[in-house]
Amino acid sequence: MKPIVIVNFKAYEQGTGEKAQRLSQICSEFGAWVAVQPTDIRLCAPHATVLGQHVDAEGFGAHTGSVLCEAIKQAGAVGSLINHAEKKMTDEEVGTRVLRLKELGMTSIVCAENLDRAQRLKQYNPDYLALELPELIGGDISIITAQPGIVKQAVELLGKNVLLGAGVSSGADLKQALDEGAAGVLLASAIVSKTDDPQSALRELYSKI
Ligand code: G3P
Repeated sequence: MKPIVIVNFKAYEQGTGEKAQRLSQICSEFGAWVAVQPTDIRLCAPHATVLGQHVDAEGFGAHTGSVLCEAIKQAGAVGSLINHAEKKMTDEEVGTRVLRLKELGMTSIVCAENLDRAQRLKQYNPDYLALELPELIGGDISIITAQPGIVKQAVELLGKNVLLGAGVSSGADLKQALDEGAAGVLLASAIVSKTDDPQSALRELYSKI
């Protein structure tokens, strides 16, 4: 099965505007999806499979500042991250967003900061549950290395549609995640902000599968 690799551009300068467009093209050549800022969805969607980084629950109407599921869909996104560690929400807020995305036939990727939370959020039946330990985000040691056994445990508790994120960068990480039954990984800094050569970083990431 094709691995799910999501490159989250966050609000990094290297992942904003025209740089986001170019980077989304590179990611797409490897089959990776990209999660971009709402203002960059329309720019990146012709070149890649694009996700929003966040959505709100409101529909059309007088909701100044809201990021509508309908709007990101119109712009070309196929779905969205929900409850990223850098854009947290309550369980109920997660539930309403998963439902809204489902109504629109879009993909929901719900992030959780630990296994307990992930197990709770499973009740909303998102397409993917992404486990990211906040203390490892942006670091050089991956969740997979730092927490031996976590992939198997996550797959056992949450099912096969699990993604692992935080500190992920290597081909060994991706291979281990897949070998142990996860659907893939979510990563950011290794591709977006810590390298001048995202192509090589992606080549390394995909080198062992
Ligand atoms: O959403 C992915 C992200 O939070 C992981 O970030 O920089 O540790 O790969 P990073």
